[in-house]
Amino acid sequence: MTQSFISSSDPNVIWHAHSVDQATRSEQKQQQPVVLWFTGLSGSGKSTIAGALEAALVAEGHHTYLLDGDNIRHGLCRDLGFSDQDRAENIRRIGEVAKLMTDAGLIVLSAFISPFRAEREMVRERLPEGQFIEVFVDTPLAVCEQRDPKGLYKKARAGEIPAFTGISSDYEPPHAPAIHLTGDQRVAEHVAVCLDVLRDRGVLRT
Ligand code: ADX
Repeated sequence: MTQSFISSSDPNVIWHAHSVDQATRSEQKQQQPVVLWFTGLSGSGKSTIAGALEAALVAEGHHTYLLDGDNIRHGLCRDLGFSDQDRAENIRRIGEVAKLMTDAGLIVLSAFISPFRAEREMVRERLPEGQFIEVFVDTPLAVCEQRDPKGLYKKARAGEIPAFTGISSDYEPPHAPAIHLTGDQRVAEHVAVCLDVLRDRGVLRT
């Protein structure tokens, strides 16, 4: 853990460097920790693809954790709504949790709309070099709206949900995602693409 990742607003709070560190924990797990940061519209398939990828990784013996937007909003972020400010705080908290989990040596998968580039970049900058892999689930709004798995687009169009992403709140697509998932491929094909990238980057030793 280098100094650049350490920041406290109080100068009297001093970082304690413990002897068991990320390298030790990763070595024990025989893997390189990373965050696979899935971003995309509601209904784009982020959670489904991330869940299937996690299952594939676990089946191969890897150590993982999936942070899922809707689930996290039932606990850690239950006090947050969908204003721009609350979404930024949501992503800041998730970024910190993901960072702790990579420090624990885990492969972290996160599935949040995370609509703003600035917050996604903030998470990338908080992590050690190369440990943030942005995955853009690029499903067009029209397709997400047609799927409407939770009936939320219908409600948003009827004016019942304010600031709904894609309808009445912005989504800023990544300029250069490490992984760009598009089209009508099946979930298994998306998972295969992600596994290939992880192998190419030496994240998976097996
Ligand atoms: S984020 O914008 O802060 O990253 P997050 O991924 O945590 O969003 O939560 C998104 C989920 O909350 C959506 O999949 C949807 O089920 C639900 N949701 C409820 N209200 C909204 C809204 N106004 N905009 C987008 N998603 C919403």
